[in-house]
Amino acid sequence: MLTGNEIRSKFIEFFEKKNHKHFESASLIPDDPTLLLTVAGMVPFKPYFLGQKEAPTPRVTTYQKCIRTNDLENVGRTARHHTFFEMLGNFSFGDYFREEAIIWSWEFITEVLKLDKDKLWVSVFTTDDEAEKIWVEKCNFPKERIVRMGESENWWAAGPTGSCGPCSEIHVDLGPAYGGDENSKLGDEGTDNRFIEIWNLVFTEWNRMEDGSLQPLPKKNIDTGAGLERVAAMVQGKSNNFETDLLFPIVEEAGRLTNTKYGTEPEKDFSLKVITDHARAVTFLVNDGVIPSNEGRGYILRRILRRAVRHGRLLGRKELFMYEMVDKVVEIMEEAYPELRKNIEHIKKVVKIEEEKFSNTLDQGMQLVMNEIEMAKSKGETKLSGDVTFKLYDTYGFPYELTEEICEENGIEVSKDEFLEKMEEQREKARSARAVVMEKGQDSFIEEFYDKHGKTEFTGYCDLMTPATLLSARELENGKYALIFDQTPFYAESGGQEADQGIIEGENLVAKVLDVQKQKEIYTHIVEIESGLDELVEGTLLNLTVDPVRREEIAKNHTATHLLHQALKDILGTHVQQAGSSCGAERLRFDFNHYEALTAEEIEKVEKAVNERIFMATSVNAEVMSMDDAKAKGATALFGDKYGDEVRVVSIGDYSMELCGGTHISNIGKIGIFKIVSEAGVAAGVRRIEAQTSYKAYLAVLEMEKTMKRVAKNLKTDLHKIEERSEKVVEETRELSKEVETLKAKVASFEANSLFDEIEEINGVKVLVKDFKDKEADSLREIVDKAKDKLGSCVIALGSDNEKAIFAIGVTKDLIGKVKAGDLVREAAKIAEGNGGGRPDFAQAGGKNGAKVKEALSAVKEILAKSL
Ligand code: ALA
Repeated sequence: MLTGNEIRSKFIEFFEKKNHKHFESASLIPDDPTLLLTVAGMVPFKPYFLGQKEAPTPRVTTYQKCIRTNDLENVGRTARHHTFFEMLGNFSFGDYFREEAIIWSWEFITEVLKLDKDKLWVSVFTTDDEAEKIWVEKCNFPKERIVRMGESENWWAAGPTGSCGPCSEIHVDLGPAYGGDENSKLGDEGTDNRFIEIWNLVFTEWNRMEDGSLQPLPKKNIDTGAGLERVAAMVQGKSNNFETDLLFPIVEEAGRLTNTKYGTEPEKDFSLKVITDHARAVTFLVNDGVIPSNEGRGYILRRILRRAVRHGRLLGRKELFMYEMVDKVVEIMEEAYPELRKNIEHIKKVVKIEEEKFSNTLDQGMQLVMNEIEMAKSKGETKLSGDVTFKLYDTYGFPYELTEEICEENGIEVSKDEFLEKMEEQREKARSARAVVMEKGQDSFIEEFYDKHGKTEFTGYCDLMTPATLLSARELENGKYALIFDQTPFYAESGGQEADQGIIEGENLVAKVLDVQKQKEIYTHIVEIESGLDELVEGTLLNLTVDPVRREEIAKNHTATHLLHQALKDILGTHVQQAGSSCGAERLRFDFNHYEALTAEEIEKVEKAVNERIFMATSVNAEVMSMDDAKAKGATALFGDKYGDEVRVVSIGDYSMELCGGTHISNIGKIGIFKIVSEAGVAAGVRRIEAQTSYKAYLAVLEMEKTMKRVAKNLKTDLHKIEERSEKVVEETRELSKEVETLKAKVASFEANSLFDEIEEINGVKVLVKDFKDKEADSLREIVDKAKDKLGSCVIALGSDNEKAIFAIGVTKDLIGKVKAGDLVREAAKIAEGNGGGRPDFAQAGGKNGAKVKEALSAVKEILAKSL
């Protein structure tokens, strides 16, 4: 006999063999604003059916977790109603159609599940000749067991508009013991419990428009759904889903916790089934991120959970129990949904808090409702007023539907409209109350808050996710909000450790936690609201989740500062005292007393010592003890820190022991590596070390290696030869520079000598007029000086075209009566679009236009011809 788990995996295997891709079960919270919950296997694929998105693959198979709450009051009453259930499905997006869908379902049912063919019945849509033909001709299904049915039975749609189509359903006949007689047919009156639908094949080829008309979809699709619990019941020969191996262990657990034996009284079985079904729904809803609230999905969760708690009470269970049911659900379901195990603590916590909230008032509420019912009855009335239903809701936490159900059980009516009216009045009051809270100032606020609520419980040493009740929400001037809860996993900035960041979520609320500050043990979360502002109402339960990656990075840096502190003491001496520290996600900073800069060797030694510790992978332990005990053990307390009588001592083996309230990693091995990035003085006698750990440290080392590789490449050598090569390059460069100097001197004198060949005489005076290209002003000047020295009496006019024009002109003193260097250079510069002047014996100037140098020098020559 196949187990539930086996049926699930055989189904997937079967369709994988038929080229279907197995997709993971999607969240119960659909990515679809028109739906509150995932109600069928096809929900995640709606866009593919409608042709809004291209399907990633044409054939898909899933087992999908689903929740339907339309028949909540029947759940537990019947053999087959559930809120939570699983749907096995195979889907074709424009690929195969009717024929394959029918043939494969038949093959699976008869060859894998091996259900008795003679007990199977099939229904097809009134006009669907084709489906009937396939059943008869391709599957040899007896025509007399095929029934045609209309829209209400054999037409399937996920909603009033959207994709839909005729369907064909497969049923198992449990026999006349469950209704009808020997000759009954599928669909006959009174046979609902006898013919069990196990699989629905939908031929999705239509799109229902707003106006009700049908448009053909771009492609024909297949959507099928087989309820796993029903299939399991049929395979395992059970007439009741709750007796299958998927559910019965949970029923038994409910029996154990409520001290009730299943199968003794129908009313007790009813309660056990309610608890069983609801435990599954609650576990899965919380697992997918839903939190109990008064709206939307949160309200569904609240209703289901409270309904279950009430049934526990009906069975005589007064203590909390629903959170314990979660263990059993996870045990049964984790094979198919392994994420349950990871989230189990969170799920139990959310369930417990909600259960506790309701349990506290349940007895009084029940008393009230029973009194009211009695009173109404005694007065001959048939109805409870809105005042009562609202009071039950508001004061005792009775979801309206629960009151309605209790009243119905007692033959009394209630009015939803009256209830809603009262609800609206209440909302109005809450709105004005909130405004008052937000107007209060900060300082007196914290004082008052502390007096009223006491301190915030910090859960973050063990948990990164905690459900917490919002106690206060204030809007800040910058548009951000300050939130305070009864408890929080968020570490508030203190002891040099930066605050955690993360996210706060509710039904629709999403808030980013930017900072957390602590005053008087009250943790204030500074948040940016992304959505769901209207949920910021006191008393709302929200999910607080710390960004785990950032927390871990900070913790690594914090633990590393403890190692660093000890290493500094060991290497520099016991005078080393922590003078301050800061641990963020990027790096750590540690300030300490020491009289001089650390040498390179000391830095290396410290870094090595810390890393050697890290490699030992010692575990880190935190213990709360009295200050006296801590001192006796030799814990390092920090100068200026204030400690209460009870202190927290963080120790790393017997290497380090410090009083510390920070969050640490569990084992120092996680730090990976520790790299000092700087050492400097911050004040007289105080040094500061900055360091990085783990991945950040690795990146720093990687960056260094990359730089070295680039250098090696530039030096055209391998990494390991880089030192030798660089020394050689430096030596070569030094020699080359020397050589260049010598050559330069040689070139200069050679140039100067060759220049003398170009000297002309004008009226007996030696004149050198010459233009160069790209010669610097200094070089021109040098040539002028040299020539003057050598020639004794002369005029030297030089120019160079360096794009711009430059000129240097010298006149020996004996000639300045005839011509002045300053005048000459001014004329030259003018031609080259510049200006200038200077002394009579030497002058320099420039001009914008280098191309005019030649022309300018010709002009100089002409002047000389006239003046000399
Ligand atoms: N979507 C179809 C159903 O839910 C298969 O029954």
